[in-house]
Amino acid sequence: MRFQSTLTILALLLQCGPAASSVDAQTTKQITIESRSTGTGYALCGSCSLPDTITATAWLASSGEPGEPVILSGTIYQEDGVTPDSGVTLFLYQTDAGGYYHRPEENVFHPRLYGWLATGRDGRYEIHTIVPAPEILAPGEPAHIHVQVFGGGMKEHFIHEFWFQGDKRITAKDRIALSKLGGFSPVVTLTKGKDGISRGTRNMRIRPAAPWKYEPD
Ligand SMILES: [Fe+2]
Repeated sequence: MRFQSTLTILALLLQCGPAASSVDAQTTKQITIESRSTGTGYALCGSCSLPDTITATAWLASSGEPGEPVILSGTIYQEDGVTPDSGVTLFLYQTDAGGYYHRPEENVFHPRLYGWLATGRDGRYEIHTIVPAPEILAPGEPAHIHVQVFGGGMKEHFIHEFWFQGDKRITAKDRIALSKLGGFSPVVTLTKGKDGISRGTRNMRIRPAAPWKYEPD
């Protein structure tokens, strides 16, 4: 998965693996996000850094964050693709509207825009944020929101990032691979409402994966 390799390379460049402290947009509390070795590099560890309260709604960006406001929502299902998956936690983080995880200097291990959500019995979730820009250090990759999942005895692993329909960086090869996911495609179509907020739907199906590995496309 290309984004994992980006993180790996940057980890080596930055010789990074430390904890990073940021203000959580949802609780306005200072949160320390730890990172862990994946065996081939480092990744932010959502399960190591849980805030006190997590609901089915996550706010990755505070109001006033520059950019196009967006609400992403959907249902998270178990592997069968039919049964809502209750009790799973997602850790999400993204770049800002300028393509930076951190300012004034880029640091992929210190994102400003991040959050957690946990599903209830209906598996529903909602994310309030802004549309990310492509990474300033990887401008050829599609704009994305990282997604890591854990909970219910499941070790933390990666699922495909949120992508956005119309992003010219999504290749024909990507589209062929993702078409196998049918209704569980990570490519979200955004529609702007009269309130100026864009909205998009992504339903997810959680499948087994080794810790710190991606679920297969
Ligand atoms: Fe990224």
